[in-house]
Amino acid sequence: MDEQWPNPPVHVDRRPVDEAESRSANGPDWDRYADEYQATHGEFLGDVGFVWGPEGLTEAEAGVLGPLSGRDVLELGSGAGQCSRWVRSQGARSIGLDLSHRQLQHSRRLDDSTGLSVPSVRATATALPFRTATFDVVFCSFGALQFVHDLGAALAETVRVLRPGGRFAFSITHPTRWVFPDHPGSEGLTASQSYWDRTPYVESDPDTGRATYVEHHRTLGDWVALLAGHGFVITDLLEPEWPEGHERVWGGWSALRGRITPGTAVFGATLGPAAA
Ligand SMILES: C[S@@+](CC[C@H](N)C(=O)[O-])C[C@H]1O[C@@H](n2cnc3c(N)ncnc32)[C@H](O)[C@@H]1O
Repeated sequence: MDEQWPNPPVHVDRRPVDEAESRSANGPDWDRYADEYQATHGEFLGDVGFVWGPEGLTEAEAGVLGPLSGRDVLELGSGAGQCSRWVRSQGARSIGLDLSHRQLQHSRRLDDSTGLSVPSVRATATALPFRTATFDVVFCSFGALQFVHDLGAALAETVRVLRPGGRFAFSITHPTRWVFPDHPGSEGLTASQSYWDRTPYVESDPDTGRATYVEHHRTLGDWVALLAGHGFVITDLLEPEWPEGHERVWGGWSALRGRITPGTAVFGATLGPAAA
């Protein structure tokens, strides 16, 4: 346990949570968890590496972002900036954005050790500290999007900072996973929760009742409606298959489950012309 950011005991619940509570839970939670996250997953992610999720699909394979050389790129929920660092290695000017101070300290550590720096800012995906029409590409690899309540605000901000015709791509826990317990073993294969119940998953401090971690769920239809409603043309919905011989367990992701049901969804979309 980290003395600076000790893990509180938690109580798991499903209840409505607004944006302010989501943010005040998730920032400190990622500060507490960052050291363990990077120690556990850093090697798999690669210091200059871009994977879209636990299946190991890389952007080099997927090509969802489109051409990168010479482009201005923003990563939402960039963590230690591994993806943005890879994007920089492809000739783009990528910038990281994350809510967690500790995650950004890890990004700075990797800047130093790799010699490839990702300029990064501490902010939330729902209020982007950038001018209008600054980026050609905005992306998010399991970053901020499933942690925000005001997803409409995050999408509106993404639209604002993108240039016309810009790309938006992101990976999330595959929405169908919501119905299963988040367990890598066989108990994670029995549906126990309604797919259509959007009530957030909340971990709370049992003494104060304050949320300490929040995750928000949207159905596939919700995502399509949100993207289309913000002027995006959806070009990709990748559901990476679990690769043969890949035995790595990442939280609730495992070969046992991954061979049967998708764990990750990767959306790609292009910003269409503004309505007249
Ligand atoms: C699962 S990690 C993924 C980090 C990185 N993309 C990776 O692949 O390692 C999720 C990240 O989203 C960040 N995050 C959570 N809520 C956020 C928000 N509202 N705005 C920006 N970042 C947020 C967390 O701090 C954390 O670093």
